[in-house]
Amino acid sequence: MILSKFVDELPIPPILKPRWKDKVHTYYEVNMTEFKQSLHSELNETTVWGYEGNYPGPTIEVESGEKVLIKWINNLPENHILPIDYTVHGAHVDVPEVRTVVHVHGASVESESDGYPEAWFTKGFKQVGPFFKKEVYQYDNNQQSVTQWYHDHALGITRLNVYAGLAGFYLIRDKQERLLNLPCGDYEIPLMIQDRSFHKNGALYYPNQPDKPIKGLETSIVPEFFGETILVNGKVWPHLDVEPRKYRFRILNGSNTRFYRIKLDSEQLIYQIGTDSGLMEYPIGIKKITLAPAERADVIIDFSNLEGKNIIMKNDAPAPFPDGDPANAVGIVMEFRISLPLTSIDTSVIPAYMVPFPKINEQLASKIRYLTLNDNMDKYGREFMLLDNKQWDAPITENPKLGSTEVWCLINLTTDTHPIHVHLIDFQVIDRRPFDVDKYNKEGVIHYNGPAIPSEPQEQGGKDTVRANPQQVTRIIMNFGPYTGRYVWHCHILEHEDYEMMRPYIVIP
Ligand code: C2O
Ligand code: CU
Repeated sequence: MILSKFVDELPIPPILKPRWKDKVHTYYEVNMTEFKQSLHSELNETTVWGYEGNYPGPTIEVESGEKVLIKWINNLPENHILPIDYTVHGAHVDVPEVRTVVHVHGASVESESDGYPEAWFTKGFKQVGPFFKKEVYQYDNNQQSVTQWYHDHALGITRLNVYAGLAGFYLIRDKQERLLNLPCGDYEIPLMIQDRSFHKNGALYYPNQPDKPIKGLETSIVPEFFGETILVNGKVWPHLDVEPRKYRFRILNGSNTRFYRIKLDSEQLIYQIGTDSGLMEYPIGIKKITLAPAERADVIIDFSNLEGKNIIMKNDAPAPFPDGDPANAVGIVMEFRISLPLTSIDTSVIPAYMVPFPKINEQLASKIRYLTLNDNMDKYGREFMLLDNKQWDAPITENPKLGSTEVWCLINLTTDTHPIHVHLIDFQVIDRRPFDVDKYNKEGVIHYNGPAIPSEPQEQGGKDTVRANPQQVTRIIMNFGPYTGRYVWHCHILEHEDYEMMRPYIVIP
């Protein structure tokens, strides 16, 4: 099915209104429901799942330090709209088919409100998972201004729940950000980039057979999923009419597996001002931005003096990344049309300096953990990936002390890049260093065969998701806190996360 490009306008998700607000708290309710939505004007309406009747969900905007309560409410039907694989962890036939639990990605939040994968709940909280603690989540938002996002995290069906539409933006704002005079209001737009495939009738397509089908079992777990079309904010290949001035875009890769390497066909610079965890110290002008699933880039694009021009946002990331077929890239993301008249003089700026970014001193680390990313085979002969060669149910091995600093060395023995996400904390990327994988597999020792490569310019800021490249040891450093309790770390390729590439960890007092 071939869909025309740039025919539909880019939707901008609405801002969620609180139910009430008093001196101490702001309270929201967010309903998850099934509904039909037009994802492209040449396509029949698609049945999707969303928050508050929207896919993507409404944007939640809070102030730094604001105490926010959110009741996430499951009002979804009993049956899933996508093919479930009952052989994967947490999705066996002994649990209800439709389960949800919401994680705010990037949040520094108490463990009970983090959206632990086994803290799921069903419609009306009739059934809940073994780690369910409370109906109303509390977020203290003691963080600087940042682009976060919320999405489903139910064990064994995260890939399906997110693919069905359960994702939205969560922005924290603060005074420092407002003082910078960045483009704002109509000139600040979030862009959630995702790939999807469709059946002829407009329904979402998700494969229900693995590469090696299992007799008698129709399963959906696939080692990766790549959609044929690119959606931004829930529209296939949209366009956005803009004025000839500066715009701020919060770009999020919300895809299951697909990476993006984004550039503008005008070859102009994109000014990146923020990473996963907030504003950077200095802006950087770059031509290409690489985003693995869950990574964000806060950017300014300057359309000044480009009246009448059309600029296409392109993608050339091979799939799988980084050594897959470049022909699988799906080269087009969206189009900007500089077609609107300038309504007022653009006084916004690309600041020369934004916020301090103190580097964590490696000497402070009380522990260095060496953690492998492995390829393995399940009992059906399907490929699956593990962290530290352990499955989800193995005893907890990562148990940092509250307030301690640790370095994690991610030893990637597989052939693909895995975006590794650690809940609760922000980390810093120290470096990546190539090593001999064969030697490691034979002797279990790291033999470096090249110098360490410093973290990329686009990683000069706080991060919560890092690309761990094949044949490299990626080092990250972080401080654990301010909460104790049970969290997770995992690969953010949702097909991997759903099938054992996820581990619980505990911050101990
Ligand atoms: Cu964006 Cu554990 O997730
Ligand atoms: Cu992975």
